[in-house]
Amino acid sequence: NSVYAGIDIGGTTVKLAFITKEGNIISKWEIPTNRTEEGRYITADIAQTVKEKAVESKIDYKNLKAAGVGAPGYIDVENGIIIEAVNLGWKDYHIQSELETLLNIPIVVDNDANLAAAGEKWKGAGAGAEDIVAITLGTGVGGGIIARGKIIHGKSGLAGEIGHVTSVKEGGEHCNCGKRGCLETVASATGIARIGMKAIQESREHEGYLQKQLLTAGTLTAKDVFDGAKKEDETALRVVKIAADHLGFALSNLANSLNPQTIVIGGGVSKAGTFLLDFVSDSFKKYAIPLVARETDINIATLGNDAGVIGAVWLAKETYGSE
Ligand code: BGC
Ligand code: NA
Ligand code: ZN
Repeated sequence: NSVYAGIDIGGTTVKLAFITKEGNIISKWEIPTNRTEEGRYITADIAQTVKEKAVESKIDYKNLKAAGVGAPGYIDVENGIIIEAVNLGWKDYHIQSELETLLNIPIVVDNDANLAAAGEKWKGAGAGAEDIVAITLGTGVGGGIIARGKIIHGKSGLAGEIGHVTSVKEGGEHCNCGKRGCLETVASATGIARIGMKAIQESREHEGYLQKQLLTAGTLTAKDVFDGAKKEDETALRVVKIAADHLGFALSNLANSLNPQTIVIGGGVSKAGTFLLDFVSDSFKKYAIPLVARETDINIATLGNDAGVIGAVWLAKETYGSE
């Protein structure tokens, strides 16, 4: 009865779970992402939680074989180092060795979106496909490319940084990666909210759904934009179409060059479901090679918040599992 720990570090929370080698979640929980001190506290927080929860979940520590960790940035997977996590401000963070020392089990680290892709391939919307592109829409935009069942890393671990594909060539917004006009600036939760704010400022309407939302809540979120669009608020609908068009454009270019069987759209924004998917598919079909447009399945992720921890355990099992 081997057990693995899956750890998924996000911008606001860290998700952790104990998972069987078959990929079934035994128990799971969340802790806040401590963003101070270059991330130095996060390993201590994670280790303490894993140890406490192992006791609570009645897991015999000697059955805990390994842990997989997903982190939101460029990862040196050979050495388990976060080279840079642009949205957290972390650099050169030796997370694998720190966690191995604290937890006394083998640790493997990869990019959060690569592991979400692996999770969806193992247990979710990508099951049965060997060639997958996954995109996660959250605080940032992440991407994972799986070819012939293997995560593609490239030379320095940056393969699949779909969020930083340039989407706006002229006059794009500044991105935390250092460039301008990245897909992340227009299709992340933050980007969609920002475009929503801009749209409100530019519109002469005062009674629209978004205006009212902004007035009552004081801020605007991507969810507000989708809620408004579903209620047929014109400004909100326009914003959703802008984001979906950028997504379809980027995904079609990826599909034209990688020819995946399945594209999986995940992350918080994907909760908009088929409402988002339909617009993205329309845009995808416009820009994809006709044969690619016909052959590629585009699906909303099915594992929700669990994709990352499940993918992390898949990787831990692949890397260290013997039984
Ligand atoms: C980072 C990626 C990450 C994504 C989602 C991007 O800004 O560069 O490494 O996968 O956000 O967290
Ligand atoms: Na990635
Ligand atoms: Zn960028």
